Amino acid sequence: MTMSTDADDRAVWDSVYDRWSPEELPWFGVTFPVDLAEAHSMVGKLSRVLVTGCGAGDVVAQLFDAGYRNVIGADLSAKGIAHARRRFGDRCFVVGSTEGLAASGWHVDVVLDWLVLHHITPERLIAYLSALACLGDTVLVGWLCGDVEQTVPSSVKPDGVVYWHALERVLSAMPRHAVRMSHRFDIAINPAFAGLAIHQGGVLLGLQRV
Ligand SMILES: C[S@@+](CC[C@H](N)C(=O)[O-])C[C@H]1O[C@@H](n2cnc3c(N)ncnc32)[C@H](O)[C@@H]1O
Repeated sequence: MTMSTDADDRAVWDSVYDRWSPEELPWFGVTFPVDLAEAHSMVGKLSRVLVTGCGAGDVVAQLFDAGYRNVIGADLSAKGIAHARRRFGDRCFVVGSTEGLAASGWHVDVVLDWLVLHHITPERLIAYLSALACLGDTVLVGWLCGDVEQTVPSSVKPDGVVYWHALERVLSAMPRHAVRMSHRFDIAINPAFAGLAIHQGGVLLGLQRV
């Protein structure tokens, strides 16, 4: 299934997945921290889980390995999804942007958005967060950020940048009528993940529909 989305953005991500193998990408191995017991208590093993921006599929595979059975991975890049299907062929993957899936009426128990938000431009942030809020009863969104909002060059996207959307900005942009923050976890990023000059780590927010 292919959803319509911003063609330029898709072309950029396709070029990333054309150029690098999954193992060469700087986020390879930086998977959803499985030791976040509270986060996992929000995600029952039978929950319908949608992993948005799943790229080459590692988080989907990780959830299957941890016993989750009702997991779908989606990404706007068909090349990323091709990697995922080749590597984890029996898993369930679809091509589709987060915004496109929301516009098509997708709704699941839990949305997990891992290491995507810092790639969303400030102009698209509100629409992106609204789409996440539409997609799931529970939204787990984890991204790289620091105390200060800043922009750093991307080591993998051609001419690309990474946006460290500050926590306050994300919370104020979240559609408050739709979701409330229930959990916050500070994520320490593996120092080996040096590609983006990350010094401070990131945040994983647990958001619940109200
Ligand atoms: C840094 S990679 C992380 C991939 C994956 N979450 C992981 O941890 O392995 C960011 C991913 O987000 C995808 N992406 C970017 N914007 C997106 C959007 N609007 N909708 C869906 N996927 C998007 C990209 O194609 C890319 O695969």
